[in-house]
This record gives sequence, C-alpha cells and structure tokens, in this order.
Amino acid sequence: MIFKWFDERLELRKFKDKFLSKTFPTHPTFLLGEIALFSFITLVITGIFLGFLYEPSVKMVSLFGAMVPAAYASVVKTDLLPMGMIIRRIHHWSAMIMIASILVHLMRVYFTASYRKPRELNWLVGLGLWCISMGAAFTGYLLPYSKFSTTATSIAYYIAKSVPWIGDWISRLVFAGDFPSAGTVPRFFFMHVMLIPMLLVGLIGLHMLILVKQKHTEPNSNKKKKEAEGGRRLIGIPIWPEQTIISLSFYLFLLFIIVLVATYIPLNPIENYGPPSPGTPVMRPDWYFLVVYGFLKLIPGDLSFSILGGNITPETIGGVLFPAFTILVFALIPFLDKGKGKGLQNYTENPLHRPFMTSFGIGGGVFLCMLVVAGYMDVLHLTARTMSIYIILASTAAWSISYTLLRLYNKKRMGEDNDEA
Ligand code: HEM
Repeated sequence: MIFKWFDERLELRKFKDKFLSKTFPTHPTFLLGEIALFSFITLVITGIFLGFLYEPSVKMVSLFGAMVPAAYASVVKTDLLPMGMIIRRIHHWSAMIMIASILVHLMRVYFTASYRKPRELNWLVGLGLWCISMGAAFTGYLLPYSKFSTTATSIAYYIAKSVPWIGDWISRLVFAGDFPSAGTVPRFFFMHVMLIPMLLVGLIGLHMLILVKQKHTEPNSNKKKKEAEGGRRLIGIPIWPEQTIISLSFYLFLLFIIVLVATYIPLNPIENYGPPSPGTPVMRPDWYFLVVYGFLKLIPGDLSFSILGGNITPETIGGVLFPAFTILVFALIPFLDKGKGKGLQNYTENPLHRPFMTSFGIGGGVFLCMLVVAGYMDVLHLTARTMSIYIILASTAAWSISYTLLRLYNKKRMGEDNDEA
C-alpha cells in the first residue's frame, strides 16, 4: 500500500528492477567495505548527538570550581549525562573500526588484484576516502581539548608549517592562525562536522556508483563455472532481499560488538588527562598515526637543508614527503600492475599465484608495522640507528622469504599442472 503510493509518484519499481536486482558476491571478504560504510553511518548518528552538546570554543569557563576551556568543559559534561559517555565512546570506537576496516579492505583489493582495469579509478577514489577518513580522525582528536588532544595536534601543526614555500599559508588555513590559538577549535569543528563528512559522503557515493556500474570482481573459481554455463551475470545473491537482510544483520552484529567494546574499554578519558597546561608532555598519537610518528622519530633532528629557497626539515621529510611518497606508490599500483592482456579483468587473482606483488605487499606491510613499533622506541630503549636496522632487516626478510616460498610453490604447482596435462 505505502510502496504503491510512492511508486505511483516516484516510479520506485524502475529503481527496484534496475538496482535492487543486482548481484552481490557471497565471499565474506566483500563485507569488509561494508564494515567501513556501517562504521561511517554510526559515526554520523553518534556525531549528531555529540554536536548538540559540544561547544567549539576555548574561552575559559568554570567547571567544578576550576577555570577550563569551554570545549573541554562541554565534553566532561557530556560524559556525565545519561548515555553521554557511552555515545562518545561508540563514536570513538567506530572511528577506530572504520580506519581499521578501510585498511583491511584495501589489503583485500590489493592482494586479489581487484584494482586492475576497469577499477583503477575506484582504487584512486578509495585512496581519497582513506586520506579523508584520516583527516576526520585527526580533526576529531583536538575537539575535546584535553592535554592529549593538544599535544597530538601540535605535532601536526609543526608538520604543516614545515611544508616548503606554502607552510605558513597551510597552517593558517587549517589551524586558523598559530596553534594553540582561539581560532583553531572552531576551524577544526567546521572541518570535522561539515567539510570532511560532506567530502566523505560525496566520495562514498562516487565509490558506490562506480561499483554498481562496473560490478564487483568475482572469485577466480567462478570463471570455469560461468564459462561452462555461458553466463555473463555475476554469481552471487540479489541485493534485494537476500543481501539486504545479510547486510542489516551484519550491521546489527557490528553495532553489538562496538557497544560491547565501548562499554568496557574507555577511550581518551579526558577527565584523566585534564585540560592543556604549559608543561604538557608529548603523548603518543593513536595507532593509525604511529606510522608517521615512528618515521619522524627515526630522522636525525639536525637533518635540514634548503632547495630553491624552501627549507626541508625533519618534519618535512617525516610528516610530508614520506606520507606523500607512500600514497603515490599506492596510487601507481594499478598502472604498474596491469595483469595479462589489455581487456577488462573482472576476476580476482589468487594471492599465492602472484609472488612478486604478494611479497611486495607483505614486505611493505612489515615495513609500515615496524614504523609503528618505532613509535615506541623510547619504551623499548632502542636508539634510532638500531631501530632503523631492525626495520630494514625485518622488511627485507619478510619480502625475500615470502617471495622465495611463493616462487617454489608456483614452480611445484606448474609442474603438477603439466603432469596432469
Ligand atoms: C570510507 C572508505 C571506504 C568504503 C566505505 C568502501 C566501501 C566499499 C564497498 C562497500 C565495496 C563493495 C564490497 C567490497 O568489495 O568490499 C567496495 C569496493 C571497492 N573498493 Fe572500497 N571502500 C572504502 C575505501 C577503499 C579504499 C581505501 C580502497 C583502495 C585504495 C578501495 C577500493 C575499492 C575497490 C577497487 C573496490 C572494487 C573491488 C571489487 O570489485 O572487487 N576502497 N568499497
């Protein structure tokens, strides 16, 4: 009845026939992108709740007899409300899960070569989503305006200032002047609740549109089955109703996990940190920024030189050039690894059958994980020199061992195939 009413006005049946009958692959790794999507939806819903209570200002106000910044006071008061603290924790945990699932989703796409023609563009859109999601986490960091937030943001401030030629301009644009200053919190609030979510919604929409147009890749094991049946349709289940029911159940399960974790594991308990004070020590950022933080710690503090009037400092190398280079390498992957032939490559590859790319991914992954460990160099009592040697040894070993093993495996596999033939 309701459907009929809307259908007569909006021709919903056409939409249903065109989009909702499309097929979704049944392999569970295709749910990784959905985890990122669902975490984002949870972030928006909990963010709206927090937005009603948050005060984006650093003017000093009284809280339990002490003078503290208004932003800090508003978050402490949120934690005291019924449901306030749990919603703030759900928001923070959803952000963690979103970033983690983006990384695992990216790894799925990388290791199965799902970035090849025609999906190069969606790979680039995905990279944009990754960078902007990191921006969302970064701008959210500062908002509670605790000791933790301000030290983490000040590292980024010095990185922004270190960009040759345009560093001052970038820091004025992002931090609204010096940091800390009265303008930074309102500027970050605007970026966190308005600019970045809009960009994310737009890019996620584009990512999904391209996906609907190009369809998913399919596991290689489907190839023979489809050729035998002479079918062109993707093997899987229709979006409506099967996949929708699976996705919704999956979302409820994910929510259950997030709420469970948020109930027992506090994140960023600002009451323990307190508001910023002049002698605040530098604190380690959350895990997803540790790669850059660890890299910064490895660079000798006196390493600086100038090129065409622009100063290159350790902050420029660790905080600007290294992340830019890493993203560039990721962006080039679909254009360097095109696979066999020039046609469309709609089947996923088995990672075990691609020794070079798989071992490159494993070596690169170990390198990045070791940089996270470098973020804890002081705790481990390691010098930058020793840590650098460990990083080179671990990533080279991971790369060469996995490459050798995969080559041997493939030699054996080819031999068996020839025997069978
Ligand atoms: C907010 C972040 C992201 C969201 C919400 C998202 C969502 C999705 C979803 C739901 C799918 C379909 C299911 C699947 O293949 O898992 C997908 C596919 C895809 N994503 Fe993402 N994604 C995000 C980030 C990324 C990143 C960082 C990359 C890579 C750099 C990427 C590259 C791709 C590609 C190439 C496909 C097509 C894969 C195929 O057909 O096998 N995405 N994404």
